[in-house]
Amino acid sequence: MTYSRIIGTGGYLPAKVLTNRDLEKIVDTSDEWIFKRTGIRQRHIAEPDQTSSDLALGAAQQAISAAGITAPELDLIIVATSTPDFIFPSTACLLQAKLGVKRCPAFDVQAVCSGFVYGLDIADKFIRSGRHRYALVVGAEVFSRILDWNDRATCVLFGDGAGAVVLAADSRPGLHASVLHADGSQAGILSTPGQVCGGKVTGDPFLRMDGKAVFKSAVRVLEEVARETLALCDMQPSDIDWLIPHQANVRILDATAKKLGIDPARVIVTVDRHANTSAASVPLALDTAVRDGRIRPGHKVLLQAVGGGFTWGATLVEM
Ligand code: ACO
Repeated sequence: MTYSRIIGTGGYLPAKVLTNRDLEKIVDTSDEWIFKRTGIRQRHIAEPDQTSSDLALGAAQQAISAAGITAPELDLIIVATSTPDFIFPSTACLLQAKLGVKRCPAFDVQAVCSGFVYGLDIADKFIRSGRHRYALVVGAEVFSRILDWNDRATCVLFGDGAGAVVLAADSRPGLHASVLHADGSQAGILSTPGQVCGGKVTGDPFLRMDGKAVFKSAVRVLEEVARETLALCDMQPSDIDWLIPHQANVRILDATAKKLGIDPARVIVTVDRHANTSAASVPLALDTAVRDGRIRPGHKVLLQAVGGGFTWGATLVEM
């Protein structure tokens, strides 16, 4: 039987840091309000000429190096993003070219903040088919481009960044189980409802959100999908070493951990430094905790995501 395992992680954050204090000069807000409501202190913002594929490249190079392989050995490249460089070609194809490789399939996954967990499950299925040995899965976003910097209710919540993993075929299971869901009837609570038509942007090109509705749905589905995924593995919340929920808001993380009865010390939190980086948030948090030595080989980690669509999912990973 062939399984997939994570053999390398990587992350990339643009150099520019925007603190809550900096935001006080842009919109009518305060460090105190933002921190109390969200746990966020700062976020990284890409330069105008930096695209999602540029951030993806930084994360991918780290993950490939940590995996001990070379880019030409990749059999599959998946990029999860809602802020692609172009309408087409895909950010994954642009990343493939930047990595200097050709031929392996490369495509984007669009599931907003759940995109990385969706991508991981897709890559796992490719590897389990026995026809692909190494897969690169990246979450990369420049959400700063789709924020309305006059809307204090949304612009304080997001940041830019990329995270990546390399999956390898293995005889021992690394990804034990994944569960994915979507409910398109809730599309309106979190969306960027613009499009390009006749050479012009039509509709609204900025992120819009019903914060309270998103908060309530996020806490409910993160608990549900955690229990669903653990049940498939015949495990309890107490069996996992680390919980990595989508890094949207520290109150969502705390509420999820509490409902699952998980000690907050076993939850990886990066939202304070990265804010919400959408599809990049889970792989960036994973990479942070691998590099600082908290997550070690053999640890069981539950990755969870929730985002626009509405989409949500979870994956139980043994490192
Ligand atoms: N600074 C200061 N005041 C603000 C700000 C701000 N940045 N934003 C809103 N306010 C004000 C509002 O105008 C309102 O004022 P009023 O009472 O005079 O009308 C007051 O603060 C309360 O606003 P609410 O929207 O009720 O605040 P709430 O407690 O719901 O917190 C928040 C808002 C933080 C967005 C919360 O709803 C939330 O975290 N929702 C989850 C959304 C989320 O995490 N989205 C990320 C994307 S989704 C995802 O990744 C799954």
